[in-house]
Amino acid sequence: MALKFQSDVDMSFSSSSQSLVVVLLWVPLCASFTPIAYSVGTNSSSTGLQTYSGQGVTLDSSNPVLTLDYGTEVAGFPYVQVTSVSGSEAQIELKYTEAFSGLANAYGDGPWLYTSGNMNSFRTETFNISGSTLTESSELFNVSSSGGSGMTESFFLQGGQRWQSVTLLSNDSITISAIGFRPSVTVLPVSSLTGAFSASDDSLDEIWNLGSRAVQVACVDANTQPSTWELSDNGALVRGQYPVTSALGEDYDSYTLTFFTKIVRGGTGWRVAGGANGGYGAYFVLTSNATQLLNANTNLTAPNSLTAGYGFSIINQAILPSAPIQQFPLPMELSENEWYSISTVLTSTGYNVSINGTVAAFVPSAPFQSYLSPGGWGTASLTTGTWGFGPWLDQAAYFKNVEIIAQNGTSVYTNSLTTQEVFEEYGVAANSQTVCLDGAKRDREIWIGDYAHTSRMIAASSGRYDILQSMLQYEFEWQFLSGAGYGFVPIQETMGAGQQYESVYYPSEYGESDYQIFFLVTIGDYFTLTSDTTLMSQYWNGTKLLVDTIISSWLDPYSGLLAGSGTNWFTAQGTTNATAPTALFATALKQLISIAIALDDASTAATYTSLLSNISTAINTQLWSPSTGAYAISLTNPTETGILATAFTIRSGIANATQAASSIAALTPLFCEIGYMDNSGTACSGGTQLSPNTQGFLLDALFLANRELNVSAAIIVPVIQNLLGSFWPSMVTQNEYYTGTSWEYVFADGSPGIGLFTSLCHCWGGAPTYVLTDYVLGVRREFNETTSAYGWVFDPAWDIVEGMNLTAAQGKVPLVGGGYIDANWTIVDGAVAYNVDVVGATGVVVNVVDPNP
Ligand SMILES: *[C@@H]1O[C@H](CO)[C@@H](O)[C@H](O)[C@H]1NC(C)=O
Ligand SMILES: *[C@@H]1O[C@H](CO)[C@@H](O)[C@H](O)[C@H]1NC(C)=O
Ligand SMILES: *[C@@H]1O[C@H](CO)[C@@H](O)[C@H](O)[C@H]1NC(C)=O
Ligand SMILES: *[C@@H]1O[C@H](CO)[C@@H](O)[C@H](O)[C@H]1NC(C)=O
Ligand SMILES: *[C@@H]1O[C@H](CO)[C@@H](O)[C@H](O)[C@H]1NC(C)=O
Ligand SMILES: *[C@@H]1O[C@H](CO)[C@@H](O)[C@H](O)[C@H]1NC(C)=O
Ligand SMILES: *[C@@H]1O[C@H](CO)[C@@H](O)[C@H](O)[C@H]1NC(C)=O
Ligand SMILES: *[C@@H]1O[C@H](CO)[C@@H](O)[C@H](O)[C@H]1NC(C)=O
Ligand SMILES: *[C@@H]1O[C@H](CO)[C@@H](O)[C@H](O)[C@H]1NC(C)=O
Ligand SMILES: *[C@@H]1O[C@H](CO)[C@@H](O)[C@H](O)[C@H]1NC(C)=O
Ligand SMILES: *[C@@H]1O[C@H](CO)[C@@H](O)[C@H](O)[C@H]1NC(C)=O
Ligand SMILES: *[C@@H]1O[C@H](CO)[C@@H](O)[C@H](O)[C@H]1NC(C)=O
Repeated sequence: MALKFQSDVDMSFSSSSQSLVVVLLWVPLCASFTPIAYSVGTNSSSTGLQTYSGQGVTLDSSNPVLTLDYGTEVAGFPYVQVTSVSGSEAQIELKYTEAFSGLANAYGDGPWLYTSGNMNSFRTETFNISGSTLTESSELFNVSSSGGSGMTESFFLQGGQRWQSVTLLSNDSITISAIGFRPSVTVLPVSSLTGAFSASDDSLDEIWNLGSRAVQVACVDANTQPSTWELSDNGALVRGQYPVTSALGEDYDSYTLTFFTKIVRGGTGWRVAGGANGGYGAYFVLTSNATQLLNANTNLTAPNSLTAGYGFSIINQAILPSAPIQQFPLPMELSENEWYSISTVLTSTGYNVSINGTVAAFVPSAPFQSYLSPGGWGTASLTTGTWGFGPWLDQAAYFKNVEIIAQNGTSVYTNSLTTQEVFEEYGVAANSQTVCLDGAKRDREIWIGDYAHTSRMIAASSGRYDILQSMLQYEFEWQFLSGAGYGFVPIQETMGAGQQYESVYYPSEYGESDYQIFFLVTIGDYFTLTSDTTLMSQYWNGTKLLVDTIISSWLDPYSGLLAGSGTNWFTAQGTTNATAPTALFATALKQLISIAIALDDASTAATYTSLLSNISTAINTQLWSPSTGAYAISLTNPTETGILATAFTIRSGIANATQAASSIAALTPLFCEIGYMDNSGTACSGGTQLSPNTQGFLLDALFLANRELNVSAAIIVPVIQNLLGSFWPSMVTQNEYYTGTSWEYVFADGSPGIGLFTSLCHCWGGAPTYVLTDYVLGVRREFNETTSAYGWVFDPAWDIVEGMNLTAAQGKVPLVGGGYIDANWTIVDGAVAYNVDVVGATGVVVNVVDPNP
């Protein structure tokens, strides 16, 4: 399943015809990702594939579809080299997907119409290969005709996929001599990582590998994810993508937007009245009068027409809704390669769109009314909110000289769209920092709660501690030091956004309470892993400020639990005064006490110790339910329990040994087909959505209950077997969904838990990567009461590994300064033989807890 690398592809492209502003210095990454297997036929196929080793492949009208399998998740800029075209031009549609069944869908497994994510918003794209030069003829692609090589590379990267298809749309024949992705991430074979894990049960190795690959595809190095806009002296060249919006227009109402646009291909598109989070609002697409691509959906975008939509886009997509479209034939001809002045007037009854001074259409807003602000998306009014630009699929246009005229006739905004400030204003700057995204293909946002698993997975596998440091730096740079969000850090920022606009994104990208707390836990985890007092002292004031902000915002003076606006999210399961987020906060405090002591901040250590004790008492007196033998979800749900209420009360030390044992035993009713539901109030069926994120916290807590509270293997092993022997294998054993990486959600029937929309490369699903290293290999960091410091131990959870029938494990654990700990153990006739070495580092001590005392 390891990737093959190809080094002989000529990737030198001719410069395009426009005088484009080059703004980035690209970080060189490894050689191309190339397919490992392929088939050619009338349709895509996942069976009967042949080994691909760079041979030429011919497509014609009797065999128009090429299916390509990359084996595991890859990411990058798609390229294809066509060395022969029978006619004067040929059109090919490239399609991408994680799960194979995405190739059967018109849009692949996408599109992703929520945020730019510095990638192609679409999962299909069409190249028009011209026979005379063997290149895509337009300025939209990176093309090379040198020596008739016929190399075309997409401008956009694709963030994550295992499968690709190429469909010949035109009635001719072509020969493809090279195809693949120029990498946007470095993905080393698992065997080349600093960290390693294997055990006598091979299925555990595969599960460990999932997380070790996911962090490599979903964490991106600085300056590897370029802007999706390109600037020139003639304005911004914007290829078909999700319309991104200006950070400066949130408060504008009932304005007139005017801009100039020149269609390069197919059409142009823009937005008005968009919201801060995702831009939800009105969206318009103008399609040119030119001959469209053979696969263009002219029901949606008819030639020479205006398509008007409201919501995320002009199609519905999974959990992202949009209003039915309104369509208007244009009363004039709309040519390509001509500049037009477009104006949109936002009125109380609709949107008045004019082209070069002639009314093109009046779009009534009444049909959009019922789509206004569902679930808090967008703004509260059809005439309020910001503007943005983004043509539809396979279209492209220039935009320049944007002007906003207020209702009173005053010009309040002008922008030529030729200068570099544009990138951050519209949230499409190249990533200037190394960051971890939630998933490779979506949402591609810096979801800081998801990252609580990610940072520990990185430490156990790639050993890229620099990413952990970069993420701390990123969050603290964006922390509010004044204003309404004082003290908060962003929970879901986008890579391309500018920190100077952060107040625009408050509260929409700052609000949810438990993601703020997860970030505190991440800080604690970093210190646990590294004992890095230098970095901790740099961020200690910001850390304490965040703790104070959480206390003043959410710690209820009467219950002593977290309550109030924003506290019902995610871990709280829709309630407030809840166990899980409050115990998560306690977990964070427990870790921060160690940092305070290490930094000689005795008063903060004392404050946090007393707060931790109060929270512990508050949870135990109000939320422990002797009748169910478990912690209640919340004060208002006394008879329901949940896996995070159990996991976080164990991890925080709030649960005592009998409570931990009892609440683990009480998980049985939560088991649904293959894994555990989040809470006991959910009904179980094949379509019940199960979370590898929450079960990952549970998995960690089960081992902690054994090591710290001596809860017996007899109680714990059956639950661990359900998780590692039943739940996680669904990500490994099903070829049609397999990506080699961990998933976002899983249905109880074992399939991806949001259908094709599911991210099948999602770091939050990869907790076993660090849990197996910590407790089965047995090498982890623990607080040593004698030295009052964290240090390495070798201490496998012997009674659990024996309960799992394991007889051996071996692996490597990366160290923060370089080098690694090499460890192995075997059990023969009940006696343990083991070996622990420190390789490539000096002064590192591993305290071996003798397994044969
Ligand atoms: C070919 O694929 C399409 C889309 O994947 C599917 O709808 C169709 O049933 C398939 N046809 C055959 C003959 O397999
Ligand atoms: C588009 O309109 C322009 C201007 O009227 C005209 O010259 C051109 O031929 C039209 N293109 C097509 C494909 O009809
Ligand atoms: C495809 O490219 C050819 C050659 O440049 C061009 O004449 C034709 O208009 C293009 N077709 C489309 C649909 O863009
Ligand atoms: C376009 O509409 C026609 C008529 O309703 C329908 O038959 C066809 O399937 C539609 N095409 C697409 C791509 O949706
Ligand atoms: C539209 O107006 C612009 C600017 O006023 C002008 O340059 C352009 O030629 C006009 N386009 C057409 C097709 O008339
Ligand atoms: C016109 O409206 C804008 C935007 O609301 C406002 O900033 C400006 O002060 C107004 N100008 C006048 C003269 O009222
Ligand atoms: C913490 O101190 C650093 C260095 O003095 C400063 O740059 C930063 O703004 C401070 N942060 C807070 C939250 O006070
Ligand atoms: C939380 O519980 C306390 C004590 O019962 C109560 O006073 C408070 O109103 C609750 N908060 C919410 C938001 O329900
Ligand atoms: C654990 O907590 C329960 C519930 O508060 C209590 O009854 C029990 O005595 C405690 N056990 C120990 C060993 O402290
Ligand atoms: C704590 O550290 C001391 C001194 O290095 C060591 O002797 C002892 O084994 C450690 N304890 C544990 C549990 O690691
Ligand atoms: C371990 O092996 C024993 C004996 O073969 C078997 O009964 C038990 O189910 C196994 N346990 C697990 C967790 O596989
Ligand atoms: C354990 O590691 C030692 C030292 O590298 C090696 O000699 C030994 O063969 C290993 N044992 C196993 C079972 O892998």
